[in-house]
Amino acid sequence: MALILCAEALTVGYDGPPILDRVSIEIPEGMTTVVLGPNGAGKSTLAKAMVGLLRPTGGRVLLRDQDITGLGPHKLVRRGVAYLPQLMNVFGDMSVIENLEMGGYTLRRGAVGGRAKSVLELFPDLAADHGKKARALSGGQQKMLALARVLMTDPVVAILDEPTAGLSPLYADRVWEQIDTVRAAGVALMVVEQNAVMAMEHADMVCVLGQGRNVTSGPAAELRDREEVARILVG
Ligand SMILES: Nc1ncnc2c1ncn2[C@@H]1O[C@H](COP(=O)(O)OP(=O)(O)OP(=O)(O)O)[C@@H](O)[C@H]1O
Ligand SMILES: [Mg+2]
Repeated sequence: MALILCAEALTVGYDGPPILDRVSIEIPEGMTTVVLGPNGAGKSTLAKAMVGLLRPTGGRVLLRDQDITGLGPHKLVRRGVAYLPQLMNVFGDMSVIENLEMGGYTLRRGAVGGRAKSVLELFPDLAADHGKKARALSGGQQKMLALARVLMTDPVVAILDEPTAGLSPLYADRVWEQIDTVRAAGVALMVVEQNAVMAMEHADMVCVLGQGRNVTSGPAAELRDREEVARILVG
């Protein structure tokens, strides 16, 4: 199983004591790896450390076989690592298309329009409203737009922090189907998700965190029945 991205024994915090204590995760090519864990477990902190927003005090982040520990987010975007933050925003006064174009800031100018078109082809929920201002979209459509924008840089791996938060189960399902489409297009995914039941249906691999540590990880098919995951599933 070829790995696109992995974290090895990351120790990282904000200003105080470490929040993550030697946390590891492997993101294989062509797969969706879901990160589960209760509130405050350190899921977002792990995501931020892997995209260069936080500098680890221990451990390494590898992109294929290259050590990218400590590289900033802009450098990582150019190497194909995309990130959708937990508190994401679209530009309300800009249209869907303009939002996508903003997301393509690392591309050659001449390539942006074509890329926006091919990203929109993956997002039927947005395509019909591509001329609308983002603030005129539903909350769910805005999440779709934020997800679509992440793809504008043509990433090899995308880290999505709770892309379905706050959505109705029905629309969350739609977003997950969209995530499956993205995976089918060849992008490896690491997805932080609160809804473990829904996540397990779409995950290939699962990594469970608790209190800043690895709790368990492995193929979703094997973990579905395990006790630790069951505990998380019931909250
Ligand atoms: N900017 C920050 N400064 C200081 N501490 C922070 C900061 N962000 C998060 N923390 C702390 O780090 C710990 C882990 O937070 P993190 O956001 O990584 O958890 P999470 O698993 O993503 O939780 P949630 O499911 O609520 O999003 C928490 O104790 C939190 O208070
Ligand atoms: Mg979080």
